[in-house]
Amino acid sequence: LRPCKISLLLQSYVLLCVDLSYKIPSNTVFLFLFSPGSSSLGADFCLHGFQHVYGLPQHTDRLRLRDTSDGEPYRLYNLDVFAADLYCRLGLYGSVPLIVAHKPDRTVGVFWLNGHTPTVSGKASYVLYGKMRRLRPQTDAQTDVHWLSESGVIDCTILLGPAPRQLFRQYAELTGYQAMPPLFSLGYHQCRWNYNDEADVKAVDAGFDRHEIPYDVIWLDIEHTDGKRYFTWDPALFPKPAALQQHLEKKKRKMVVISDPHIKVDPDWPLYREARDGGHFVKDREGQIFRGTCWPGDSSYLDFSCPETRAWYSRCYSFDKYKGSTVSLFVWNDMNEPSVFNGPEQTMPKDAVHHGGWEHRELHNLYGFYQHMATADGLMSRSGGSERPFVLTRSFFAGSQRLGAIWTGDNVATWEYLKISLPMVLTLSLTGIAFCGADVGGFVKDPGPELLVRWYQAGALQPFFRGHSANDTKRREPWLFGEEVTAAIRTAIQQRYCLLPFWYTLFHFAHTSGLPPVRPLWVEFPRDESTFTEDNQYMIGGALLACPVTEPGAQTVKVLLPGSDEVKIWYDISSAKMYKGGKSLSLPVNLDTVPVFQRGGSVVCRSTGSGTCTADYQKLPLDVTVALNSQASADGELYLDDGHSFQYRDKKAFSLRRFSMASGRLSASEEGRFDCDTVVQSVSIMGVKSKPTTVNVHVPGEDVPEMSTFNSYRGKSF
Ligand code: NOJ
Repeated sequence: LRPCKISLLLQSYVLLCVDLSYKIPSNTVFLFLFSPGSSSLGADFCLHGFQHVYGLPQHTDRLRLRDTSDGEPYRLYNLDVFAADLYCRLGLYGSVPLIVAHKPDRTVGVFWLNGHTPTVSGKASYVLYGKMRRLRPQTDAQTDVHWLSESGVIDCTILLGPAPRQLFRQYAELTGYQAMPPLFSLGYHQCRWNYNDEADVKAVDAGFDRHEIPYDVIWLDIEHTDGKRYFTWDPALFPKPAALQQHLEKKKRKMVVISDPHIKVDPDWPLYREARDGGHFVKDREGQIFRGTCWPGDSSYLDFSCPETRAWYSRCYSFDKYKGSTVSLFVWNDMNEPSVFNGPEQTMPKDAVHHGGWEHRELHNLYGFYQHMATADGLMSRSGGSERPFVLTRSFFAGSQRLGAIWTGDNVATWEYLKISLPMVLTLSLTGIAFCGADVGGFVKDPGPELLVRWYQAGALQPFFRGHSANDTKRREPWLFGEEVTAAIRTAIQQRYCLLPFWYTLFHFAHTSGLPPVRPLWVEFPRDESTFTEDNQYMIGGALLACPVTEPGAQTVKVLLPGSDEVKIWYDISSAKMYKGGKSLSLPVNLDTVPVFQRGGSVVCRSTGSGTCTADYQKLPLDVTVALNSQASADGELYLDDGHSFQYRDKKAFSLRRFSMASGRLSASEEGRFDCDTVVQSVSIMGVKSKPTTVNVHVPGEDVPEMSTFNSYRGKSF
């Protein structure tokens, strides 16, 4: 089934009723589109048979969207909200106007792209409300969705699934696939507002080595600049930025600096003058350059909706223009909703004027998206198009996945915020934004040691993994809380690094098929209704079920192990203990326990050993863990490439191995060609019923089978 598209420019009241039942034998979709005012737009969708509806980031809310008939709709209006209230339907930093509805035999999506082109490259206005109402849930399941936008055009696509995987691909075909991240960006990131000076950065970097904790990137917040002038360095605190980056690069580590969209009004600063004289700023309604207040004080805002401004801004990242930048410097776009401290709702007035005469109201939700685009282009261009960029953005829109990563913004160091980070990340993943994560430890306030450990454990199981803290919090590098805490954090981070081959493989599939690396349980178990409202546990790929501990003082954790015809067996990855699916269990936990289960029927590759960063781990040998299902079979993949360039795309320099175990034989087929030294050191098989008598290894090209050795057989403990 192809997505069905309805695109209308509404001048006046329009009523449209479309019966798609000829395409979907078991479903009828009725659309009621109307224009309630001279420019606002709305549409009602009745989702027959659906009680479970998801999507519409970004809100501090649960995974399943709520019934909003109590009056409060979900708002999609990108805003800078510090320490947002929990379970709130007001908009946060970014928006994706996609609703995903699911029932046991069908998944559908409604994508309300209120703009000209489905790839979000044209002008678009924002979606104001998505409103949910569930009617007669017991007897006649139905969810009514009402969209209302302040202006723009109706450009609505219905994604017909019918299964979650097909829906992800359909949505990716419309808005783009997840960018393939450089490998280093899947490692651990250490951030703080701020690391004070070069000596501080070097000391923190050395601390990771001293405590044998791997990490890849250290981040500099706004204070690294000369008076909040982005693209500059504070001459007293960061006098030798290139040498600092080279110091890190020698250890194969990177640096990320912040670059916000507001530009300090300073006629003595060449970059300001260039932007002003080049006409790169947003104007006010009188046609003057718009001025608002942000970190530097009086500021003007780059008009990223203008292609020339984006091209100019991209060039600002070239090595000759951005003094002190090197190949190992990457970028963080913040405050790009945009945040205007003295503006209405702390953002830009809706009547500010952009390129082409468009009012800000028409493209508000795209502002951050366009900055992200220009930054990613800048990083790509500086390498002549050969290296993958890494750019983190706070504000986003549908399609931002093509450009890099996002994080969930200014969260708070409380257990509730840790808990909500899970459904927030799952919602983002469902709506295409697959490279996402929450600030580990909580940005605002100081976490206690237990919360910090639990947050590292949870963060290590989210796609983007960064510790960050606000300027008025206590320092919290992982070794500042005593040996027990350091050890628990070290283990969580090391385990993340060992799983990198698996994460990287999942990102390959996000990049090529739209499947998000982390998924709500129902994506993998679409018929199991017990999974439909599960917020606290989720799947990493099709193989691992994660259930991070998010309660203080937890002694046990309730884990739902879904069951289906194909999946009846799960294995606790820390003990290899086998569990039957289709029920919940109460798992005893201590501070070191991170409940993760491998699904029977899957194969997961891990690095074995230890190192200091992703580049080290890339060279380590692999363990292939086979978790047998009840038919004693299993499947899984491993994707490898150089981890940083576009050669996987341009020269097909990659290797995709497909492992398959059946009838006591594990085989691997290969697609692509990538020469590397990665070796498989061990194969661990969980679920073997009796001790094997021999193990034969067939090496391609060699006729004689080799005998291999068992190191252990733990059949009894199953
Ligand atoms: C707001 C961001 O959300 C936060 O992460 C950052 O540290 C501050 N701005 C300062 O740049």
